[in-house]
Amino acid sequence: MTIQLPENQTAGPADGLSRRSMLAGLLAAGGAASSGLLAAPASAAPAVRAPHDHRVEALLKKMTLAEKLGQLQLIGNEDDARKALAKGQLGGVFSVVGTAKLNALQKIAVEQTRLGIPLIFGLDVIHGYTTNFPIPLAQGSSFDPTAAADDATISAKEARRSGIHWTYAPMMDVTHEPRWGRIAEGSGEDPYLASKMAAAKVVGYQGGDISSPDRLAACAKHFVAYGGAEGGRDYNTVDVSLQRLHNHYLPPFKAAVEAGVATVMTSFNTISGVPAHGNGYVVHDILKGRYGFDGFVVSDYTGIQELINHGLAGDGADAAAAALPAGVDMEMVSTNYVDFGQQLLAQHRITREQVDDAVRRILLVKFRLGLFEHPYTDEAGEVKAPSAAAMAKSREVAGKSMVLLKNGGPVLPLAKSIGSVAVVGPLGTATYDLNGTWSGLGTGASTTPPVTVVDGIKAAAPGAKVTYAKGCEVEGDDTSGFGAAQDTARGADFTVVVVGETAAMSGEAAARSNIDLPGVQQQLVAAIKATGKPFAVVLINGRPLTIPYLAENAPAILEAWAPGVQGGNAIADILFGTVNPGGKLPVSFPRAVGQIPIYYNHENTGRPADPNNKYTSKYLDLATGPLYEFGHGLSYTTFTIDGLTLSGTRMSTHGGKITVSVQVTNTGKRSGDEVVQLYLRDPVASIVQPVRKLRGFQRVSLGAGAAKTVTFTLTTEDVGFYDNAGKFRVEKGKIEVYVGNTSSAELMDTFTVG
Ligand code: NOJ
Repeated sequence: MTIQLPENQTAGPADGLSRRSMLAGLLAAGGAASSGLLAAPASAAPAVRAPHDHRVEALLKKMTLAEKLGQLQLIGNEDDARKALAKGQLGGVFSVVGTAKLNALQKIAVEQTRLGIPLIFGLDVIHGYTTNFPIPLAQGSSFDPTAAADDATISAKEARRSGIHWTYAPMMDVTHEPRWGRIAEGSGEDPYLASKMAAAKVVGYQGGDISSPDRLAACAKHFVAYGGAEGGRDYNTVDVSLQRLHNHYLPPFKAAVEAGVATVMTSFNTISGVPAHGNGYVVHDILKGRYGFDGFVVSDYTGIQELINHGLAGDGADAAAAALPAGVDMEMVSTNYVDFGQQLLAQHRITREQVDDAVRRILLVKFRLGLFEHPYTDEAGEVKAPSAAAMAKSREVAGKSMVLLKNGGPVLPLAKSIGSVAVVGPLGTATYDLNGTWSGLGTGASTTPPVTVVDGIKAAAPGAKVTYAKGCEVEGDDTSGFGAAQDTARGADFTVVVVGETAAMSGEAAARSNIDLPGVQQQLVAAIKATGKPFAVVLINGRPLTIPYLAENAPAILEAWAPGVQGGNAIADILFGTVNPGGKLPVSFPRAVGQIPIYYNHENTGRPADPNNKYTSKYLDLATGPLYEFGHGLSYTTFTIDGLTLSGTRMSTHGGKITVSVQVTNTGKRSGDEVVQLYLRDPVASIVQPVRKLRGFQRVSLGAGAAKTVTFTLTTEDVGFYDNAGKFRVEKGKIEVYVGNTSSAELMDTFTVG
């Protein structure tokens, strides 16, 4: 290791700015004068600074430039991490698991680098570490932030006790794109729902104190507008208006910052021509400036290097000169900050203040994590398998997350005394596919495999004869198993057809251009229907699918998503009525792929769809509206929602409030959950507003015959919107309030803002 003298921190000001950086200086990072989406990185001093912390300042004073640049480096494998450590230039490591391995790396950092600054260890703990919970899209379906918090709390404990400090979650990318595989990782199409789930997850991971041995630093990702990828193709271009950026994509990040999120990760996409990794407007001005985010921003995997492919940078030095001033503090995998930092400083393309600000933020999070006091993790405490309590929670959350899309007859729930059940379909005995994308340690053969649907049904109805026939694979065109599947169905009182997607069909880099049931699975359902025997379809999938055939022909459809390690049990809980389904769709289900993007909170056109008028906004060959709408979900009981009452008729533009209350009554014969949903519409505004926007929801559990008053409080934050300068406006005029159990709720009243 070379010993260098502490860096001279009083070197001259940044002069000799390049033409682009001078322009950027005018446009970006200007604090008060926000630059809008024209923003390019600035080489001016950061207008927004990390908060003062005396421990950080004392350490910073001792650091050489090389050591500072080293803190900005994050490496994703053990060998490269050791090489970087040998040079004394490493801030953190990710994707290495196992307490012994992590402690060994930490020992090098603490004992063999000049200042002994501990490493931060990251991992994608997205919906579980050893205990896999349902995918985040499923958790969104629960409309219950405590479900997300339960996952985060258990995941944090398991991961931190195993040496991980930092999770790359929650993902909070709002999207209108079911083709995009990463829809599985977020909470769907609505910014309000996504904000609530994101904030709950941040609190679940972090608690009040991330130095606790049971907590993780969270990472809000991907900043920002990643879900707007054109055509749903991963990593693709995003062109977005400022009003939509602020109204649609940014709110969950604002909520995460308000919940105290420790870190943020930039996204792979461009935002109106400026890639997120070089976008000073979104990272520096909005996230750090307007929102006051005081943690650090990490790049995504080689995201800084990719500025070259994007065409924002000519080489690695350019890429670093774009990303650091934009506000990206830590570089994941690529090494442009450490490689070119010194040169860029000498050329005055970045400033010492920018480097120091990035280092300060990273050190601050390390101090907050308590790493200087407790750099190592007790190897005896490593969590290698789910506890019984964690398994029970995962099962409970999975049950809350399933959506009963259809229940003709009703054919469900099944009686536990049923004589025989046939399970048909390629996912009936699936194990790891039930975890879906990003299943932490759960994909490894050494970890607990998820409970299959067949095993879940056997356990739920121990007296029943349970038979299984695969019928076909998830993909491919082989129908040779259909005959056996039909025979199996004919021999049983009821058939459960389990079809959908494998885990690999959603998640990162898993876009599909066709979102029908893959392979010949729809024909398999048709073959079972042809037997004339009763059946229900259970869907395992990571995105909305185009299922008009099922909607028409299957007596019942249960959307189970990728339900996690207790998947089979949780599905059986619902099929047999032990759990009454109460989930609601957090995304619209399109009728056909050509209808995408289709989302409930769209703007009206000048010619809203009218089946009797050709010259209105619709398709000639498709019914208007989604197959299943946002907020839809059935129960085995029935509810009424009535008695809509507003506390007043007028809300002041300055800090006004209106409370809205309704009475929800379980009018059926079983206890169950209903999600009371409140939507607003601003019919006349200076920027046209969505036909509806969700501004409140509450999931309530009610016994048969029971009733409850549900109250929502609306403020100017609910009735306002961001304009095309990114400014929040509260305008005078009428607001319509809709309350019900789906996005097309009809119970309505109005009030006036003024
Ligand atoms: C790339 C993904 O986009 C991001 O979500 C993830 O956290 C990183 N890789 C690290 O694995």
